[in-house]
Amino acid sequence: MTNLKQAILQGIPSEIPAKRDINASVSHAPNRKNILNKEEKQLAIRNALRYFPEHMHTVLAPEFAEELKTYGRIYMYRFIPEYEIKARHLEDFPHKSKQAAALQMMLSNNLDEAIAQHPEELITYGGNGSVFQNWAQYLLCMQYLAEMNNEQTLVLYSGHPMGLFPSHKDAPRVVVTNGMMIPNYSKPDDWEKFNALGVTQYGQMTAGSFMYIGPQGIVHGTNITLLNAARKIDARAADLSGKIFITAGLGGMSGAQPKAGVIAKGICIVAEINPQATYKRHEQGWVDEVYKDLDELLDRAVTARTNKEAVSIAYDGNIVDLWERVVERNIYIEIGSDQTSLHNPWAGGYYPVGMSYDAANEMMANNPEKFKKEVQKTLIRHTNAINTLTERGMYFFDYGNAFLLEASRANADILKPNGDFKYPSYVQDIMGPMCFDYGFGPFRWVCASNDAKDLAITDRIACEVLEKLMHDSPDEIKLQMSDNINWIKAAGENKMVVGSQARILYADSEGRMKIAEAFNNAIADGTLSAPVVLGRDHHDVSGTDSPYRETSNIYDGSQFTADMAIQNVIGDSFRGATWVSIHNGGGVGWGEVINGGFGMLIDGSADSDRKLKSMLFWDVNNGISRRSWARNKEANFAIKRAMKMNPDLKVTMPNSADDSLINSLDL
Ligand SMILES: NC(=O)c1ccc[n+]([C@@H]2O[C@H](COP(=O)([O-])OP(=O)(O)OC[C@H]3O[C@@H](n4cnc5c(N)ncnc54)[C@H](O)[C@@H]3O)[C@@H](O)[C@H]2O)c1
Repeated sequence: MTNLKQAILQGIPSEIPAKRDINASVSHAPNRKNILNKEEKQLAIRNALRYFPEHMHTVLAPEFAEELKTYGRIYMYRFIPEYEIKARHLEDFPHKSKQAAALQMMLSNNLDEAIAQHPEELITYGGNGSVFQNWAQYLLCMQYLAEMNNEQTLVLYSGHPMGLFPSHKDAPRVVVTNGMMIPNYSKPDDWEKFNALGVTQYGQMTAGSFMYIGPQGIVHGTNITLLNAARKIDARAADLSGKIFITAGLGGMSGAQPKAGVIAKGICIVAEINPQATYKRHEQGWVDEVYKDLDELLDRAVTARTNKEAVSIAYDGNIVDLWERVVERNIYIEIGSDQTSLHNPWAGGYYPVGMSYDAANEMMANNPEKFKKEVQKTLIRHTNAINTLTERGMYFFDYGNAFLLEASRANADILKPNGDFKYPSYVQDIMGPMCFDYGFGPFRWVCASNDAKDLAITDRIACEVLEKLMHDSPDEIKLQMSDNINWIKAAGENKMVVGSQARILYADSEGRMKIAEAFNNAIADGTLSAPVVLGRDHHDVSGTDSPYRETSNIYDGSQFTADMAIQNVIGDSFRGATWVSIHNGGGVGWGEVINGGFGMLIDGSADSDRKLKSMLFWDVNNGISRRSWARNKEANFAIKRAMKMNPDLKVTMPNSADDSLINSLDL
């Protein structure tokens, strides 16, 4: 047995490992605020010690107390394994169940140093998107996955492995819940408190569900958004060429923006306050050029526009300084947005202007009230600059990071007289009507061989399937099909793989089912060397209820309900998912969204064929039916088409009421 297998099977070591310093060469989460009182701190330490035998407690208790004092959380750094955590071939992980091995592969990818934003704090992206709360949970979970069989289900409560429970072979191998709170305890400070106590975590969307595949996952969605934003402001535009797009953030997801902008053939300027994030993206080739001098940067962008050059440019500094300089120099910008982590404004998601990254982090930990005020002042300046530029013709949209929400809470000038936001969210204007309502969403897969050759084969197969489907597809979805065919054709040469051999494309339910079926056949006949994991981002048609993002183009009042996401995850779980997950928070913030997803290992078997057809059909059409019931006409079209394809689907259709009748009522 390899050392890796032995180490995983050992779980929590029986002897206390040597103390280790934190790794200075990786990015670390900001220190969290000191929110617990003395009794609560004692409880947090008692909670942490539950994972360890009593003979370790005298060493660990003071160490955990120190971690809590210094970092605001107990990460248990001492227990970080010696081996490198990364995606590997399925067979490299110890297992009795291939499905459980697939889960080890996927969660290891989420903690890979090349992928994770703060790997030693087990945070994959979004500043607080955790895979686990601490290293004991990681060690236990890997051990359970290594030991379990196909008649057991591992239950994860916000990263905590509650244990293996007997189930059956068609049941999910893992059920994940993250951050599920009693609704009255779901405010941002509740996350701080209960996360510090070690009883809940913020799983973001794909971090705590092991489905994050690096920035590639978002490159494609961003690419589609930018292509369509360019077409929206310029009916003759095929893409973003000759247009400048300004935004912020080079983090986990936001780091995809420069690459997506270049693939859309535009000029993409991104401000990033954390130099470590900026230079990491530069080294990885995700951003072409970095500037500290704003005038040099803007001159470069204007020249690129004249030459219709596709280029990505990072500003090593605060986004507000960049916007204000654009205003001063009166440079016309076609499109603007923002992807700072405003879902998490007080704990490192958004940095105030006029101070360095380090100074801001220091203030955040030691003077959180002042930090909050500085963030609010910055949001007001941020909004003022954007308002000036939109008056000069720029198209601005909210990129699902709660920018509009937090700017309004900071009393920035972001509301129309009727109380609506001045700007649309990208889902209201672009993604909702053009993609989600038709069922197009971020389908993805990962080759369990971890072999680039397999990925290239899956790219070819997916492209062939889409080309065939496009031939017969209705006019309403031909543009979506062709954007995705172009994407998959160029995917290999765009070199987007960081970590596991993964690919994403936007497909509707028919596309997802047909691609998955073709993969399953290719595994069965040996064209692919190993099984494939299917999944998706939670940011999709059916998985997420989020009134300011995924469901912001629902206008019947139900955007504030979460039935769709809950129905979705329950429905996926009994239709064949290998794992399912449901999260509070993710994207726009704790308490603001419920989102869920699945993973499914297909292995070329008849069982896989049955499961993929049953589950993928439900996984997309659940959301379309809800969107159709909300009277969204594109969804109405799509659900009628789905009912024709499968006569067992019978969906309640809405009747429309006459406007003049409604308006004539005495209310
Ligand atoms: N719309 C979408 O499709 C979509 C997708 C993914 C993420 N998001 C949202 O976008 C946000 C960013 O996600 P992420 O995973 O990249 O988070 P992240 O925390 O990894 O990255 C955000 C980056 O913004 C930087 N930043 C913060 N304040 C800044 C400032 N004032 N000036 C310049 N840079 C600043 C941070 O240093 C950080 O690197 C999140 O709120 C997320 O939910 C939206």
